Amino acid sequence: MSFESAAAKREDVFANHSRVLLCPSILSADLANLTSEINALGDSIDMVHCDVMDGHFVPNLTFGPPVIKSLSKRTDKQLDVHLMVTNPDRLLKSYAEAGASTLVVHQEVVYHAQRTLSEIRALGCYAGISLNPATPLETIQWLLPDLDMILLMSVNPGFGGQSFIPQILDKIKKTRAMIDASGLPIRLQVDGGVTLDNVAEIVRAGADMIVAGSAVFGQESPKEAAEALGRAIRLAKAKL
Ligand code: DX5
Ligand code: ZN
Repeated sequence: MSFESAAAKREDVFANHSRVLLCPSILSADLANLTSEINALGDSIDMVHCDVMDGHFVPNLTFGPPVIKSLSKRTDKQLDVHLMVTNPDRLLKSYAEAGASTLVVHQEVVYHAQRTLSEIRALGCYAGISLNPATPLETIQWLLPDLDMILLMSVNPGFGGQSFIPQILDKIKKTRAMIDASGLPIRLQVDGGVTLDNVAEIVRAGADMIVAGSAVFGQESPKEAAEALGRAIRLAKAKL
């Protein structure tokens, strides 16, 4: 797919708040075959979650703007870029120019979060903040007007294939209540340890963006796995 056709086809699914989005994490994909891995999923997915790791904030290292840029030319899905890096401010422009739709920074490593989030919006991206499992929700209560998305980590960041930390379910419910009370159109993303067994409970708790790495790319048929997750999500949403 050429850059022009991919970009022209790109639909702003993030803005459609009636929809719960499934965002597979390419961390668990074959990174040398990203284009085919993602395009094989077709319309069973909504966005592509890109885990950027710097070997400092987290003990793992992945990829940077050049990979995001290439990917952006080859998929019509919006790219959801999760920056697990220290000093994210110096990189924001590069990721925005590379084609990120959302830019998510970690609360634990931003000194001036309000400024960082405003800058992300000024660069034309949706602004998100991520909280590690132990980071209190209260740390972002004064940032709500600057946020398009809250990402709750349900594992300690750094690796795919870890187990969902059960007490995060309560954190999801509290975050949903905080967002609803604000009346602001803020999305709530949950990332880490999501499986076909727990996804419905996570949606019922209030998440409207689901990241899944090993539950999609770690499966024999990633497309069938994504379709099954999508069905479970829609069913859970319909029962809300
Ligand atoms: C973890 C990453 C996640 C990870 C999720 O640091 O932020 O996006 O890829 O992988 P699973 O779904 O396998 O827990
Ligand atoms: Zn992630």
